[in-house]
Amino acid sequence: MCGIVGFLGKRNASEVLVEGLSKLEYRGYDSAGVAILNHGDINVKKCKGRLRNLEEKLNVEPLEGNLGIGHTRWATHGEPSDVNSHPHCNGNETVSVVHNGIIENYLSIKEWLTSKGYEFLSDTDTEVIPNLVDYYYEGDLIDAVIKATRKMEGSYAIGVISEKEPDKIVAVRKDSPLIVGVGEDEYFIASDIPAVLNHTRNVYLLEDKEFVIMTRQGIKLVNEEKEEIKKEIYKVTWNADAAEKGGFEDFTIKEIHEQPKAVKDTMTSRIVEGEKIKLDKISLTKEHLDNIDKVYIVACGTAYHAGVVGKYVIEKLAGIPVEIDVASEFRYREPLMNDRTLLIVVSQSGETADTLAVLRDGKKKGCRVLAVTNVVGSSVSREAHDVLYTWAGPEIAVASTKAYVTQLIAMYTLALHLASLKEKLTVEDIEEIKKEMLELPKKIEKVIENKEEIQKFASKHYMERDMFFLGRGLDYAIAMEASLKLKELTYIHSEAYPGGELKHGPIALIEKGTVVISSLTQTALRDKMVSNIQEVATRGARVMAIAYEGDTEVEKSVEAVIYIPRTLDLLAPVLAIIPMQLLAYYTAVQKGLDVDKPRNLAKSVTVE
Ligand code: AGP
Ligand code: GLU
Repeated sequence: MCGIVGFLGKRNASEVLVEGLSKLEYRGYDSAGVAILNHGDINVKKCKGRLRNLEEKLNVEPLEGNLGIGHTRWATHGEPSDVNSHPHCNGNETVSVVHNGIIENYLSIKEWLTSKGYEFLSDTDTEVIPNLVDYYYEGDLIDAVIKATRKMEGSYAIGVISEKEPDKIVAVRKDSPLIVGVGEDEYFIASDIPAVLNHTRNVYLLEDKEFVIMTRQGIKLVNEEKEEIKKEIYKVTWNADAAEKGGFEDFTIKEIHEQPKAVKDTMTSRIVEGEKIKLDKISLTKEHLDNIDKVYIVACGTAYHAGVVGKYVIEKLAGIPVEIDVASEFRYREPLMNDRTLLIVVSQSGETADTLAVLRDGKKKGCRVLAVTNVVGSSVSREAHDVLYTWAGPEIAVASTKAYVTQLIAMYTLALHLASLKEKLTVEDIEEIKKEMLELPKKIEKVIENKEEIQKFASKHYMERDMFFLGRGLDYAIAMEASLKLKELTYIHSEAYPGGELKHGPIALIEKGTVVISSLTQTALRDKMVSNIQEVATRGARVMAIAYEGDTEVEKSVEAVIYIPRTLDLLAPVLAIIPMQLLAYYTAVQKGLDVDKPRNLAKSVTVE
């Protein structure tokens, strides 16, 4: 995700835009830019790096004018660079656009426009938009923007200016957020409320395909048929800090709530019913795969836990044996790697020192390296042969939540792609899994609705000194991640154990009042897991179970059951981890801890 802003008024537009962008840097910050219309000319200033780089450029060469658009980027297509920064223009720079979202069909639009004589400078998907608006312009900017959006598939919130109508900003959204700020003889568009709060608390909250026509006479909202839309002004009561968190208390709970959209975005243009899986940055072929006799998944922390799920699903779907390890161990145990090895590294930041060291060592030994990362242009993305980006948007909170679930989606997507290359699954099998994957965003929403039940359990147990997470199969994989979340956020000691290991020692630790959390999503192992739960419950444990809706048998043995919608057992980690994230979060809140910045932790561990 990124931040877009627009301004029309009497003040210097670039100053107002930069101030607005500074309030949106939490939405993305790998590059920034503004386009200002002055005396009928569009002037663009944009550059790679944080917003201060743009400010320095503008201090040296200020831009006059009181109409303009601005952007702070979180790249999805085209690595962070000056040329890939927004705003983007058509060839003769008479139209300029800022965009938040992903234009899924940008390649086909780009081909079509190229055949019409258009040229492109950047690697972004966004650059097709100003050229589409230019192509459709026949004297009315709103008409041209409506026609352009009819051609576009995917998500967008856009601001458009044109030298042909120099007193106007046109904007529209579809699946990406956009608001309109109404000030005293000045008007704003922005991805989010924080960008306008210093100037007005009167905003329009736009719905999809509601078009904004902004002029000095005011704001007009129309639909695709150009029929006027009447909308109530929303009066913002939040303060600036709360607004940056979208009204949530902190980034951790905000990012937990962003998981449905993060999962949906990460599947965008890759998981499409009835179409082959398209992985635009992966050139791994069947021939490469036939030459691979070893697959490693290597990562740290939460990313490693996503890799554990990756092992299960790649082995199950693609029939390829996978070994997993934490990067800090892997790199020093002289692992066997050569040109018949596929090395998959997972890293949200793409900068973790141990993970990066493993990538470099693997390349030296001839491995084919595939990176799964959330940051376009990060070190792992630039140094790997193939990249599968998660599109979770910036993850600000130190404890990873939305990045983890999108890493799971990346693992499923990769497993399906490998299974397809190796012809291990029928098209019908693949379509069934894809269909269920596309249902996940709605099902995550449903699980999050359970939060009061989880909060209640947390309020009873937040003073515990230990908590145990038990699971079998994929439920054990998420028990590891759940245990890390609890440790990180609450500082409570916690361990994850395979249910079958209980009798081999850990059950000695179970006594009256011991808290145990367990999920029962793996049908083939469920009865054994129920027995494990009964074993600890009879010894006095206080158990919270996560089970599929309708699976009520375990209720009589536990203190609380959090029900999740049914899905394929394979995909259950995406849903079952949510209650465990919320348990860690609410327990930490109850303890009055700093959930966004837990003690001793950094968001990216770039040192060993
Ligand atoms: C996750 O909650 C932790 N903050 C930490 O374990 C993190 O997953 C680990 O440091 C790896 O980071 P990366 O994904 O950026 O490589
Ligand atoms: N997809 C566009 C790009 O990569 C916009 C990304 C965003 O929303 O930050 O430039």
